[in-house]
Amino acid sequence: MSEEPACGGADAVERHKRLAAEEAATLVRPGMRVGLGHGSTACHAVEVLAGRYERGELPGLTCAVASAETASQARGLGLPVRSLAQMGGLDLTIDGADEVDPALNLVKGGGGALLREKVLAQMSERLVIVCHRQKLVERLGSSFDLPVEVLPFALAPVRGHIRRDLGLESRLRRDERGIPALTEQGNMLLDLACGPIDDPRALHRALKEMAGLVEHGLFLGLATDVLAAGEDGVEHMQPS
Ligand code: A5P
Repeated sequence: MSEEPACGGADAVERHKRLAAEEAATLVRPGMRVGLGHGSTACHAVEVLAGRYERGELPGLTCAVASAETASQARGLGLPVRSLAQMGGLDLTIDGADEVDPALNLVKGGGGALLREKVLAQMSERLVIVCHRQKLVERLGSSFDLPVEVLPFALAPVRGHIRRDLGLESRLRRDERGIPALTEQGNMLLDLACGPIDDPRALHRALKEMAGLVEHGLFLGLATDVLAAGEDGVEHMQPS
């Protein structure tokens, strides 16, 4: 395995993310079935976990992944990656988040992998979120637009529903060439300028009613642990 970290740089934020990832990796035990999320903080977690696996600390470990990028990183570092069918269930998933509220509800999907991330989260006994303290907010939607994944065929009507029924404007996510970004499922992404969300459950229900809207980035009641790192170290939060 390479000695050089493949994730992020050497600045303070990356060092803090690394600390959170190191803490998360201590929760993994031999024989566990572990889900690996997507994003720059999850990238650190994959690297740290691979180090433990290579040192023989985690015999029998198997992993499932939320994206092709994570699959390629994990396999490249020698981690045993299996399909969800082969795994059956997951003991623990380690993933990042875009926002975390005091009840440990989340906004995710900044990296575009929210659908697979939610599948892993829902099949895991424990969802461990690793993040920088900057991700902690009083109310979801305060600092990050809400990503939703939409079937391309239904893009126009879904945007219409979101505007008319919810009074929200949506922005079509584009790649660096200006072309609409596609998820690994071939769907499109909308980012909803919600602002601070009064009732995330009500928004979840409203979005779930829209045919053609495949999934949204609100992860409610799923996180069992949040490891938020900053200058003062890593704070381990669990739902009260
Ligand atoms: C990926 O789709 C996202 O849900 C990420 O988990 C989220 O954007 C956090 O990413 P970073 O760890 O890169 O901030």
